[in-house]
Amino acid sequence: MTRPRRRRPTLVLRGVAKTYGAGETAVRALRGIDLVVERGDFLAVMGASGSGKSTLMNVIGCLDVPTAGRYLLEGIDVSQLDDLELAFIRNRKIGFVFQTYNLVPRTSALRNAELPLVYARVPKHERRQRAVEALEAVGVADRMHHLPSELSGGQQQRVAIARAIVTNPAIVLADEPTGNLDSASGAEVMQIFSRLNAAGRTIVMITHEHDIAEHAKRVIHLVDGRIESDHRTAALDALPPKLAAAEVPRAELA
Ligand SMILES: Nc1ncnc2c1ncn2[C@@H]1O[C@H](COP(=O)(O)OP(=O)(O)OP(=O)(O)O)[C@@H](O)[C@H]1O
Ligand SMILES: [Mg+2]
Repeated sequence: MTRPRRRRPTLVLRGVAKTYGAGETAVRALRGIDLVVERGDFLAVMGASGSGKSTLMNVIGCLDVPTAGRYLLEGIDVSQLDDLELAFIRNRKIGFVFQTYNLVPRTSALRNAELPLVYARVPKHERRQRAVEALEAVGVADRMHHLPSELSGGQQQRVAIARAIVTNPAIVLADEPTGNLDSASGAEVMQIFSRLNAAGRTIVMITHEHDIAEHAKRVIHLVDGRIESDHRTAALDALPPKLAAAEVPRAELA
């Protein structure tokens, strides 16, 4: 009997641990994380301050290496890579969105969105086109010639999301993406994440807020560096819950 071939998961973490420092002052930020994230999922990571959320994010984003365990990103064993290879993986496979947007000041929205493609040595014409498309996808193309200082917080975060998706990464990682936004702008940003996920993008998002986590299809809770609970709230191939609730026709989501 032939079984249907399963697609390779985007992320596989097995017994991932991260300890900062050594001896009596050692901090065990992650204490054995087992986590598989399938392609197309939308995962929210919750947990109290100090529970290890950002540490987990840094490991997943290849910004930091675990002290024990294995981590595979699209089947690649990240622990085997040197710094140059890690930088390459970060550029090509991961899109980062931070609480504070982290846009380059005195540089237009368009240029900000284009930046990862500059590092990836994509030719100028193609770069431009893809950056414009990414800005269109998040609804800020009309502001592309403005500087970050001329944009609202919500618009800046949209530009940051455009920058995160412009390389067509395997995963978008967001650490408290709505943390600095008022609730209306936060809701708009969450709708953008939901639409990106509906279009097939894999998203891992850290949040403190339950109403933000409700946009995801699966929610895990960290306690003291361990996964304490793991709940699925929408099927992997379903629309993210809030979009489904808004009954947006699938045809509009492309
Ligand atoms: N570079 C570091 N050196 C030493 N300890 C660290 C370092 N980074 C984090 N820690 C410790 O690891 C633990 C987990 O930190 P982490 O930043 O992952 O928590 P968090 O869940 O993101 O918290 P918050 O919600 O406040 O952002 C904490 O005890 C923290 O003090
Ligand atoms: Mg944190």
